[in-house]
Amino acid sequence: MRNRKSIKLLACVAAALAALMGQASAAELSARQSQLLANNCLQCHARLGVGAPQVGDVQAWKPYVAKGEPAMLASAVQGTGGMPPLGYCSACTEDDFRALIRFMAKLAPPATASGNAQGAAK
Ligand code: HEC
Repeated sequence: MRNRKSIKLLACVAAALAALMGQASAAELSARQSQLLANNCLQCHARLGVGAPQVGDVQAWKPYVAKGEPAMLASAVQGTGGMPPLGYCSACTEDDFRALIRFMAKLAPPATASGNAQGAAK
């Protein structure tokens, strides 16, 4: 049985990750979506050894991202391999899944894909 402690821990992990990943380019989550992430996805996506691409690990997400967002969404909803249907998140809407996936895979929202403005300095 999981207890309150581990839920609290997950919430802390989520908050820390959100802080770490709080870059302008990362997809943003609402407070509610952060909670959904902490209570569901991070059980596996922030735990090594279960075969899940880890939150923010761009390299690990690459093969999934390569299939395209609709395919990732479908796999998340239907489940695939060790990924349970809906990732245990019965409260997640389709929009939530899109946001959670973009957040975990560190995908920028489409509009912010600005070119290479940096790199010339020094
Ligand atoms: C019980 C563990 C577990 C939970 C909970 C979980 N995942 Fe996963 N997830 C996995 C594993 C394991 C994989 C890798 C599956 C594979 O490659 O076969 C995965 C893969 C994925 C993928 C890529 C699927 C693909 O093939 O394109 C997405 C997207 C994803 N998870 C989203 C989520 C989201 C969003 C949540 C929370 C709502 C979540 N997962 C919760 C274990 C989990």
